[in-house]
Amino acid sequence: MKIEDQEISFKSLTKGENIPFDLLLLADPSMDLIAEYLEKSEVFAAVIQKEIIGAIVLYPLTQDSVEIKNVAVKPDFQGKGIGSFLLEQAIQIAKKAAYKKVIIGTANSSVGQLYLYQKLGFELADIKKDFFLENYPDPIFENGIQAKDLLVLTKEL
Ligand code: ACO
Repeated sequence: MKIEDQEISFKSLTKGENIPFDLLLLADPSMDLIAEYLEKSEVFAAVIQKEIIGAIVLYPLTQDSVEIKNVAVKPDFQGKGIGSFLLEQAIQIAKKAAYKKVIIGTANSSVGQLYLYQKLGFELADIKKDFFLENYPDPIFENGIQAKDLLVLTKEL
C-alpha cells in the first residue's frame, strides 16, 4: 500500500532484533505478557523508508488456529489504513499457512478496535470476564470505559 505516494512494505522481523517494543506496548501495556507470547510468535512490521511504523504479532494456538496477539501503529500514522493493511496481510499469511481460523482479543472498552475487527470480518465468539482486572496491575480506561473483560473475536478462513 501507499500513503502520500510513499510505498509501505510488510516484512517479517528477525527474532530478538528490531522488535519495536514501543509499538507493542501501545496495544498491550504488560511487558511481561508481551515477552511471554513473543517467545512463540512471529512479528511482522509495516515499514516506510526503513522506519517501522506498525507491527503485528502472530501466535500459533493450535494446528488450525492462530491468534493476533498485538497490532499497533505509530500514533502519527494512525487513521491512514495501516492497521487494516497489517490485519489483512496477517490474514493472508494465516491462510497461506493453512490455518482455518484467526483469533483476536480486545477489551470491552476498545470501541474503535471492535469496529475495525468486525469490519474486517471478525465475529464475537467469547467473553473472558474480568480478564483485565485479573491480569493487569493498574486500571485501564479507554473512551471513558474501564477495561474489564476480554472480548474474543474469530474469523474463519
Ligand atoms: N478509535 C476509533 N476508530 C478507530 C480506532 C480507534 N482506536 N482504530 C481504528 N479505527 C477505525 C478508523 O477510524 C477506520 O475507520 P474507517 O475505515 O471507517 O475510516 C478503521 O478503524 C481503520 O483504521 P486504520 O487507519 O486502518 O487503523 P490504524 O492504522 O489507525 O490502526 C490500530 C488501528 C492498530 C488499532 C491503531 O489505532 C493503534 O495502534 N492503536 C493503539 C494500539 C491498539 O489499541 N492496538 C489494538 C489492541 S488489541 C490487539 O492488539 C489484539
